[in-house]
Amino acid sequence: MDEHIGRAVVGVDALQDRVGELGAQITADYTDDPPILVGVLKGAFLFMADLARAIALPVEFDFMAVSSYGSATRTSGTVRILKDLDVDVTDRPVLIVEDIVDSGLTLAYLQRNIAARGPRSVATCALLVKDGLQRTELDLAYVGFTIPPVFVVGYGLDVGERYRNLSGIHEYVGPPRR
Ligand code: IMP
Ligand code: MG
Repeated sequence: MDEHIGRAVVGVDALQDRVGELGAQITADYTDDPPILVGVLKGAFLFMADLARAIALPVEFDFMAVSSYGSATRTSGTVRILKDLDVDVTDRPVLIVEDIVDSGLTLAYLQRNIAARGPRSVATCALLVKDGLQRTELDLAYVGFTIPPVFVVGYGLDVGERYRNLSGIHEYVGPPRR
């Protein structure tokens, strides 16, 4: 796309294969009680679209938008809700669909926030987990790939709102964008 896009960290074929596997696993685990998928905007939008089509169950959809970064590439540890859930998840099984876990602070916050609403269950499916950086103990039921601790873009992930439309996951090698 341009010179700031480095090597593919996860290629298109690997993404497609793994998303299919995750969908099959979720289908098997939730056969009797299809979950509400809660996508974390904006990063998870492409993953959510592909994952949902790999799940052979009548799932429902909702989205939350949170901000933990501004548009910089480093975590601040502060989480703000920009868009809350539309549906009532009381006594419903919830599956959080997240793009990437870096420090884990965003997901830890979301898990606590959703658990406080009294769902029947809450589990998380994260496409990417960065190796070794999590500052909190997280319960991740489904993980697509563990990747090295580099900043990545594509397949929904951005830097300064760009590169979300790359088909694969690539290392970002440009300057920080604010
Ligand atoms: P955490 O709270 O440090 O785990 O950060 C999680 C959020 O930061 C993710 O949901 C992404 O929105 C964003 N993020 C973390 N690492 C990356 C990356 O390498 N590329 C793009 N966004 C990232
Ligand atoms: Mg995210």
